[in-house]
Amino acid sequence: MRILKLNAISPVADEVFKGYEYSEAVQDPHGVMLRSFNMHDYPLGDSLLAVARAGAGVNNIPIEKCTEKGVVVFNTPGANANAVKELVLCELFLGGRKIVDGANWAQSLKGQADISKLVEKGKNKFVGQEVSGKKLGVIGLGAIGAMVANAAIHLGMQVAGYDPYISIKSAWLINRRVEFTSDLNEVLKTCDYITVHVPLTPDTKEMFNKKTLSSCKDGVVIINNSRGDLVVSADMVEAVKSGKVSRYITDFPDETLLGVENILCVPHLGASTPEAEDNCAYMAGKQLVDYLENGNITNSVNYPTVTLPKSSTARLCVHHKNIKEILSKIVSVISSQGVNIAHMADSSKGEYAYLIMDLDEVPSPASVELIAAIPGVLRTRLL
Ligand code: MLT
Repeated sequence: MRILKLNAISPVADEVFKGYEYSEAVQDPHGVMLRSFNMHDYPLGDSLLAVARAGAGVNNIPIEKCTEKGVVVFNTPGANANAVKELVLCELFLGGRKIVDGANWAQSLKGQADISKLVEKGKNKFVGQEVSGKKLGVIGLGAIGAMVANAAIHLGMQVAGYDPYISIKSAWLINRRVEFTSDLNEVLKTCDYITVHVPLTPDTKEMFNKKTLSSCKDGVVIINNSRGDLVVSADMVEAVKSGKVSRYITDFPDETLLGVENILCVPHLGASTPEAEDNCAYMAGKQLVDYLENGNITNSVNYPTVTLPKSSTARLCVHHKNIKEILSKIVSVISSQGVNIAHMADSSKGEYAYLIMDLDEVPSPASVELIAAIPGVLRTRLL
């Protein structure tokens, strides 16, 4: 099997792909491993079975095109959450205190006489506030948001969490002192600090714009380590210049944001720790291998989780549309060949579904072709 590497990936993945052809030069790959490489104009060849994103965000991958071709897209939710949480905590402090400006000013004193006197005289320009006692709004309570919310409670902050799609897993992990709200406007109006942890989707794109920024509490600090396009940069610059937003800290610099006082641009460092890079590479690699070898799907963003311990001679995997009677049509092709289905698992995610069938005999190529020809079947794979 061949895996194409589209970004530098932690060497931890080299171990996971032992026995595979795995490099930047692979042709006709069965799998792709990447971080932020933009795959939107990348041709999806017929050999391609899956794409694994070593990270959480998948806006650099053409999800719809992949789904229609039966290409499974994986991500690694939670694998870099601690790294991002630590950066957010650092940014909460940087949001209230003028550490960066003060440190830059201190550097400018080099070569001057009596530096300690100059420091004491000049430091009042860099006075800041403490986070303890302030209110933090966490928008998005997935793996990262949940960790940030809990850590902020321990910093003595009051925390409001907003997430209309919160999972049971996240809800269990969240400190009971975090107040849940279903009203985004409430977060905007009442919080001194806001940190955003949502994926970039058509619904979340530009969620911080002139209108929502004008609803914010005066002097709010906004932190964005999720994606740049969640914010309309020009509107943010205006809000910062007017003092509505006292500071904007983002992991996504752009031409409009750079050089503006009280906007701190970090060069996409949220997940850039060796620990997070190792965790993401391992998790993405393992998920990819389990899919390529066993057809199991875990943590896919476009297909449902379907896993089955392999128990029979043959396994037939079918990507199909989530439509009426399709399952009975697939099963009846197998049954009409006199082949027994030992185990079967099927699940759907929105309009798409995935089926694993463990069979007591290898089905004939003709029967697999018949299944592939059923309207709504997107891909078949015999393992
Ligand atoms: C993510 O979406 O998790 C990050 O962008 C990961 C990365 O820096 O590659």
